[in-house]
Amino acid sequence: MSNTLTYITLKIWRQAGPDSPGQFEHHVIDEISDEASFLEMLDILNEQLIESGQEAIVFDHDCREGICGTCSLMIDGQAHGPQKGTASCQLHMRSFRSGDVITIEPWRASAFPIVKDLMVDRAPFDRIVEAGGYITAPTGGAPDANLIPVPKPVADASMDAAACIGCGACVAACPNGAANLFTGAKLAHLNLLPQGQSERYKRAEAMVDTMDEHFGSCTNHGECEAACPKEISIDVIAVMNSDYLASKFKNRKSLSRT
Ligand code: SF4
Ligand code: FES
Repeated sequence: MSNTLTYITLKIWRQAGPDSPGQFEHHVIDEISDEASFLEMLDILNEQLIESGQEAIVFDHDCREGICGTCSLMIDGQAHGPQKGTASCQLHMRSFRSGDVITIEPWRASAFPIVKDLMVDRAPFDRIVEAGGYITAPTGGAPDANLIPVPKPVADASMDAAACIGCGACVAACPNGAANLFTGAKLAHLNLLPQGQSERYKRAEAMVDTMDEHFGSCTNHGECEAACPKEISIDVIAVMNSDYLASKFKNRKSLSRT
């Protein structure tokens, strides 16, 4: 049975551009159904703003079903809000009570500069994937599914890592602004499978080096795992560190320097 929240107050970050100063703006929304999604609630607010001649609040969104990784809201100081394993777009107003004051901010990380209001630029994630998040071996036509046997635990671990949607909540939640959970997930996805072996160490070194150019260092706080809407295990960071260390021997770059 649906209920209606009599009113909520939103404290929302507004910022005209990357170099402009930002500030919080307060808005009150009356009579909102608890079946509305969080983003639908923002849509309603934007309609009200546009009708009254004001500028709509800019926020990122696309699929609105937890698969694209576009939504990126810091809600009451938590990346993606209070519900565990849930992207901002999957959050509903039933998680809040009438009279609540909800603070909404963009991701706060120097690697993700604010584009406008609640939208940030997550291009450094693209740089990491460009550095090695692919398999270059020609694959030809689709082979029979049983041609390359993959042990079930390996397939499961790779698929779990592949669930990463690239949202950036791990970076936003990390006190160091580190991207180790994201990079670890992308590496584990490919490096655990037989098809990913030929470029395993080249990939590990290139992606970690690119990550280090943009993001802070991991000190094992674990905030990333807690904030991740796909509940990616922090174990992927251990796999990444192990592959990165091995890459220093396997890639033999130090030999070529002597
Ligand atoms: S690891 Fe989780 S929090 Fe980080 S980008 Fe992937 S899905 Fe988002
Ligand atoms: S809008 Fe696609 S994951 Fe939230």
